[in-house]
Amino acid sequence: MRAVEIIEKKRDGGELSAEEIASFIDGYVSGEIADYQAAAWAMAILLRGMSTRETVDLTMAMVRSGETLDLSAIAPLVVDKHSTGGVGDKTTLVVAPIVAAAGLPVVKMSGRGLGFTGGTLDKLEAIPGMDVSLSAERFREVVQRHGIAVVGQTADLVPADGKLYALRDVTGTVPSLPLIASSIMSKKIAGGADAIVLDVKVGNGAFMETLEEARALAELMIRIGQGVGRAVTALLSDMSQPLGYAIGNALEVSEAIACLQGGGPHDLREHCVAVAAEMLLLGHVATDPESARSMATAELDSGRALRKFEEWIAAQGGDSRVIGEPERLPVAPCQQTVAATRAGHIERIDARAFGLACVELGGGRERKDDPIDPSVGLVLHVKVGDAVAQGQPVYTIHARTVASATVAAQRLAAAIDLSEIEVLPPPLFF
Ligand code: URA
Repeated sequence: MRAVEIIEKKRDGGELSAEEIASFIDGYVSGEIADYQAAAWAMAILLRGMSTRETVDLTMAMVRSGETLDLSAIAPLVVDKHSTGGVGDKTTLVVAPIVAAAGLPVVKMSGRGLGFTGGTLDKLEAIPGMDVSLSAERFREVVQRHGIAVVGQTADLVPADGKLYALRDVTGTVPSLPLIASSIMSKKIAGGADAIVLDVKVGNGAFMETLEEARALAELMIRIGQGVGRAVTALLSDMSQPLGYAIGNALEVSEAIACLQGGGPHDLREHCVAVAAEMLLLGHVATDPESARSMATAELDSGRALRKFEEWIAAQGGDSRVIGEPERLPVAPCQQTVAATRAGHIERIDARAFGLACVELGGGRERKDDPIDPSVGLVLHVKVGDAVAQGQPVYTIHARTVASATVAAQRLAAAIDLSEIEVLPPPLFF
């Protein structure tokens, strides 16, 4: 089957057969199909969409591009969570140790930064020594011994998503329902999780900007997961402003550690407790929502989740001393704080603009193989609903150079709106 004919068929709005989809994925993974052809195909899918049947076929073709883990010999029930991507979303760093500390094994195949959103793998790699490319064998060992492991796609595990994800990141082909659903669900199915909690983000800092689109994505992913015998549930969470205050890899690791230490931003803590509780429920460790919440809160407040985090980081080769000595994390040489030009109430924080500013500072990729700078990013000092006085700091830019900090400040000049009257903070979940 010629790649160009498959691209043209989708370009013209045709429905691809399972064979055509499998042949395209196999060809791309083997290198017979070039990046530029895969980019054209992804753009055709973004513009023309895919039927549910095509999306399921795409997901399963991606799963078959590598090995599938069977963890049943290691743990009777393994749970996973996945976010559809949002600005400042460091949830996994907090939630995975909470759930693992409660005795429910967590395995997770995560992604890198995508578009204007950061990725768990890039965040974890901000920790010196952290290895997120474990072989399938080593992944199994870490899960067995520590009850927690987070890795990326490798040559063994969903290599098709590894290649397509990096390509979509830099070709404007991220916000497509079938591409997001197949990317996420292929990783979840191949990664060996029995139960999956999907955190579907909605708002200007997410790929799905409306509740309607987010619901459609959630339903599609639930259908794909249930079709292969997984227990799947989805939460719809707000991404109309960044989650927490920190945006940028090392900065987000620091904020996640603060949350595990019992501090950190209120919205991040609340969000993490809710996601962890959902995982404990789905994993049958808790019997009802109330006890699931108390259990998650207890793991956090007792310090057990923090100790599990420490154990996990060390198990994957990371320097767990970053917990007590945050200066071991990369620090950007230039920090510039921006203050409110007048008094008011924070009405809007343009999450997408903050995400894009972080990418431009070097915290994300403009091209597929770009290295990223783990130290850069932004730290907000306010949330929607807060009152500010004139001259009060609203955010700090962490940059490599003064020039890049100035460019970021210019990009963000209109990213925060103030209101004369009081503003209610948005809900965390819908
Ligand atoms: N997360 C993923 O793993 N893939 C996407 O396409 C979007 C978010």
